Amino acid sequence: MSRRAFSLGAMSILAAFLSGCASNRELPMTTLAPKSDLGQWIYHLFIEVTLWDALILAIVLIAFILAVFIFSTRVGEAAPPKSAASDLKLEIAWTVGPALVILMISVPTVRTVFRSQPRVAPADSLHIRVIAHQWWWEFQYPDSKVITANELHIPVNRPIRLDLVSSDVIHSFWVPQLGGKRDVVPGQINELTFEANVPGMYPGQCAEFCGDSHANMRFRVMVETPEQFAEWTKLQQAVPVAVDQITDASVADGAKVFADSPCTSCHRIDGVSKGYIAPDLTHFGSRTTMAGGIMANTPDNVAKWITDPQALKPGALMPPLGLRGQQLNDLVAYLESLK
Ligand code: CUA
Repeated sequence: MSRRAFSLGAMSILAAFLSGCASNRELPMTTLAPKSDLGQWIYHLFIEVTLWDALILAIVLIAFILAVFIFSTRVGEAAPPKSAASDLKLEIAWTVGPALVILMISVPTVRTVFRSQPRVAPADSLHIRVIAHQWWWEFQYPDSKVITANELHIPVNRPIRLDLVSSDVIHSFWVPQLGGKRDVVPGQINELTFEANVPGMYPGQCAEFCGDSHANMRFRVMVETPEQFAEWTKLQQAVPVAVDQITDASVADGAKVFADSPCTSCHRIDGVSKGYIAPDLTHFGSRTTMAGGIMANTPDNVAKWITDPQALKPGALMPPLGLRGQQLNDLVAYLESLK
């Protein structure tokens, strides 16, 4: 490779890297900008431990540099014979020193571990059941009976209690800005408790390798004001317009395509179908993303997804349905109308 080709290659890699950083700035997957109590505890622990580490590094470096100058042997000078006898004071110092270091790090760590895993949910917590699937997330709100997928809506400044369960393999629930990871294990319920304190949209990601599309198992958490959250809940509780009362011709045709398709055996639409192994589509059109949060919820993307799910998410359980042309457009129009 010529030098010019090499530097061009290097520059394009750098540009790709920098543009990646730019898009990350819009959706920061960072633990260094905590937006919840849990996130802040973990962040403060990280800073505290890092400061102790920095202090130890400084002491070791200074001792090392001093030793180099004080105990070095000049050229031509014979090395002085050293006594191998033990020095009690030194022995005590290097036993007590590291013990203190471990104490300084372990006390706040253990305190944070217990603080972040309260056995009993705080009073007035909002309970949400999180079900991890290969490869998408289901969120059920027992109080309001709302069921949604891949986008978790929660109110700001209210304790949230998540009951995490898995329908297949081990996953891990992780929203970097809202706190630490929690494994989602089949056959048991793990809990996660936190209180978000800044409204906004926070990206999440499955953090435990769970098969082909582990990296495509993303989601979003929308932290909303109590009013916005109440409004969202009300919209999600609404029953979709009955099929025979749809006015738009394309949407009405799409409803028929859906009702006659195998979609109904996996997907639920309130009042239309009862499938439950795939995401609930009752309010699909109200979501900003789709397919495990990997792409924006646009008519184009929905059409691409229905045409060939495996091309977008390897291993996806949804089969290609062989729908084309007007049928496909109508089905997309119907799904997008489900606000
Ligand atoms: Cu689910 Cu990785």
